[in-house]
Amino acid sequence: MKMDNKEDLTKSFGENAHSYKISNVFSDKEDLDRMINIVGPSESDIALDIATGAGHTAVKLSKRVKEVVAIDVVENMLNQAKLLIKENKIENINLMNMDVHSLGFKDDYFDIATCRFAPHHFYNIEVAIKEVYRVLKKGGKLYILDCSVLNLEEAKATINNIEKLRDPSHVNSYSLEEWQDILKNGGFKVLYAKNLKRQYILPDWFDRMNTPAKNRDKIFNILRGMSENLKRLYSFDERYITTYYVELLAVK
Ligand SMILES: C[S@@+](CC[C@H](N)C(=O)[O-])C[C@H]1O[C@@H](n2cnc3c(N)ncnc32)[C@H](O)[C@@H]1O
Repeated sequence: MKMDNKEDLTKSFGENAHSYKISNVFSDKEDLDRMINIVGPSESDIALDIATGAGHTAVKLSKRVKEVVAIDVVENMLNQAKLLIKENKIENINLMNMDVHSLGFKDDYFDIATCRFAPHHFYNIEVAIKEVYRVLKKGGKLYILDCSVLNLEEAKATINNIEKLRDPSHVNSYSLEEWQDILKNGGFKVLYAKNLKRQYILPDWFDRMNTPAKNRDKIFNILRGMSENLKRLYSFDERYITTYYVELLAVK
């Protein structure tokens, strides 16, 4: 089992919390609208937004459900979420400092759980998914959007290496195939699973994490050393690096 990474998380996100509030990656309207379409929330639902960060997912969801409980382990990120909630004059979001690996809620409580751009930070994905499964009602839905890797050994090693050089709190990005196994092993039925090809825009992607210059250089050396096949799948230049997201909907 991997070690708790709270210290790395607090450093990575605590120092850069504001950039997550203003980032157009996390507030992207198309992504958030598509999430609502996929999840199909109803007015009586109680939702859990896991690793809420600056609160973009929670705010979007709050307009479509009865209540959102939004959790995160980094206090500075919760402070950014508090500001976003205030700016949007929202009153049905309850923010809590909590770790997904140990959720302080009773069994079978939530109708919906959402988790965007965060599972790659979880130090024990099986325990985290088990906890989410426990707190969802039977028939409850789990929506995930996260950075990912293509299901090739070279991609898994190379891309996770790059992600860790950019952000020491990165634990692992899973492929779509690995995600489906994780969810099925955790008791979920996967209803929808898709790879989305995207780009990390530079230098924004580095700047958001204050990645040191020497690590930026190392990342480009690794990219230049990839096989021709991986270079085709993960094209890059000084303005962008290709990435893939996974998007999944699973039901308990
Ligand atoms: C990129 S931000 C999330 C963005 C947000 N979900 C959104 O849609 O805008 C990643 C967040 O995951 C949180 N996080 C990482 N590990 C966590 C854990 N074990 N439990 C709860 N939150 C965690 C971090 O503190 C950080 O705020």
